[in-house]
Amino acid sequence: MNVETMITLALSKGRIFEETLPLLKAAGIEVLDDPEKSRKLILDTNLPGVRVLVVRATDVPTYVQYGGADLGITGKDTLLEHGSQGLYQPLDLQIAKCRISVAARADFDYASAVKQGSRLKVATKYVAIARDFFASKGVHVDLIKLYGSMELAPLVGMADAIVDLVSTGNTLKANNLIEVEQIMEISSRLVVNQAALKLKREPLRRIIDAFAQATAAQT
Ligand code: PRP
Repeated sequence: MNVETMITLALSKGRIFEETLPLLKAAGIEVLDDPEKSRKLILDTNLPGVRVLVVRATDVPTYVQYGGADLGITGKDTLLEHGSQGLYQPLDLQIAKCRISVAARADFDYASAVKQGSRLKVATKYVAIARDFFASKGVHVDLIKLYGSMELAPLVGMADAIVDLVSTGNTLKANNLIEVEQIMEISSRLVVNQAALKLKREPLRRIIDAFAQATAAQT
């Protein structure tokens, strides 16, 4: 199988990978390796013409944008932070659903601070989403960029609030934080390289259509 006709799908390990498997099955594709057990970064499937790349969640849009993968599945949060240059976004797959919210310590009166026009220190890895959100509210913020474990920042007095993903709310609860405002609902999207869509139209259309049908059937 040469690279010109091979279809390459970029996925991240964890929830997105797990929730993508039924969609792949609907398209007749089965991944032959388990990324949690294997160290392989290129996984074979039952179809010789389809392979899966295992990449960091934040790198999925980059692989698809630069043609390292023909298509990928990525959260709306990641896509908003990355930007969607060169990416065709045909489908909201309605998987890996969660929300992105502002959270603070229970003893911090977020509503009053916002009302009074205080300048807030906000720790997050979602700087673009946070910047847009607070600008749209007219709230002045100093953003502190972190790469994970944002919940710590208010606990050690480094920030007044955080902007982070919330799913069950268990992480916030375990760290005595309260969700004070919801910014947006998040789910995973299919992204496709625009050049690949022209060059490999048939096989890509088949996968996109199967994903669309499977998504419609689930909702
Ligand atoms: C996300 C997020 C929260 C947690 C929320 O982290 O950053 O920490 O999940 O989930 P919950 O509301 O169900 O507790 P994730 O596990 O995706 O890893 P990350 O820290 O690398 O973002």
